[in-house]
Amino acid sequence: MADQLFDNLLADAKEFFREKFGAAPTVLVAAPGRVNLIGEHTDYNGGYVFPMAIERYTIIAATPTDSDKATIWTKDCGKKMVPSAAGEFALRADVKPEEQPDWTSYVQGTISCCLRKGATLKSGFDAVIVSNVPLGGGLSSSASLEVSVATLIEELSGHKFEGSEKPLLCVDAEHEYARMPCGIMDQFISALGQKDCAMLLDCLTEKPEMVPMSDPTVSVLITNSNVKHALTGSEYPERRASCKAVAEALGRKLLREVSMDELLASKDKILAMENGETLFKRARHAVGEDVRTLKMKDALVAGDWATVGEQMRASHDSLRDDYEVSCSEIDALVEIARSIGPDGGAIGSRITGGGFGGCVVTLVKTDKADEIAEKMAREYKARVGKDATFFVTRPAQGARVL
Ligand code: GLA
Repeated sequence: MADQLFDNLLADAKEFFREKFGAAPTVLVAAPGRVNLIGEHTDYNGGYVFPMAIERYTIIAATPTDSDKATIWTKDCGKKMVPSAAGEFALRADVKPEEQPDWTSYVQGTISCCLRKGATLKSGFDAVIVSNVPLGGGLSSSASLEVSVATLIEELSGHKFEGSEKPLLCVDAEHEYARMPCGIMDQFISALGQKDCAMLLDCLTEKPEMVPMSDPTVSVLITNSNVKHALTGSEYPERRASCKAVAEALGRKLLREVSMDELLASKDKILAMENGETLFKRARHAVGEDVRTLKMKDALVAGDWATVGEQMRASHDSLRDDYEVSCSEIDALVEIARSIGPDGGAIGSRITGGGFGGCVVTLVKTDKADEIAEKMAREYKARVGKDATFFVTRPAQGARVL
């Protein structure tokens, strides 16, 4: 099923390339989206995250040309839904970012950042981009776009980025060209994910640890609420700033360096700050989430599903109540999964990604996955009046040349 999806996307890329450029492409690359199992809003605090790549990809088909530019067509790609659109890209490191970013900003930004980091292109290229990573669903469609572009530039230039170089240059592109102050999780997992493994990433040392996740009796069910609330633009930088303010008040750079005991002991000091109560709640989430992430990773390795479920529950509650990045539609999906519970095969469920809509991740017993998905869809429709969409995925392979 996953292979079939990938093959269809690949065929789509080849056909689209032929339609636009009249020949077969010579280079094909792919980079996946991701789902975060736990460790939400911790990456920019230097904390721990625990994502895995999903069987949903962005694929680029390309061929070098004699021109000094890149002409790239996309179908349903980037942050804005563009059914089919073309962009022209300059192969220079010093291209100025646009005031109003759109999908071309991710592509231009990644090209420019690759060139800054030492890749050189002898000529331009023609390319098409296709993707089956749901847009705006919190599954990192934008990181998969950046990482696929960086992988293409590696292949065309012959310059291989080592280790964390590729994900970090994609993060630079997102900050500077897409103007989104994201953390490092999405680009790391899209670039370096491995089949049948989740990734425990220490965002302070930037060192990933691959954690086998190959128990066939447990599956990852992703449910898209199909809602995206418009406030995301300002909320994310605001959360980031709140965490930084608390860390600095405690004489640290990052909340990762603050323990829960220390945070609780400093409560009065934080409450005395402007918006102190909110700041304290934000910090309590970030500090607590690191503890939960490490516990969940150990429990997952040990097959201790009860503990896994508890950590996912506590993470969701904290994101809903302390970090305030959930919404009623997402809460409804998580509540439905909870009502099914471990006895019904739903091990644990939580919001995943940046929040304010998007997707819920539920670990389920494989033999109950269909039943649970159907029940969640039915009850979501009855409660919220909207259609949820689903898929089950295994931990997938990160970026690669095809
Ligand atoms: C977005 C960002 C990530 C991370 C998550 C929240 O996906 O791109 O860096 O901060 O939100 O965990």
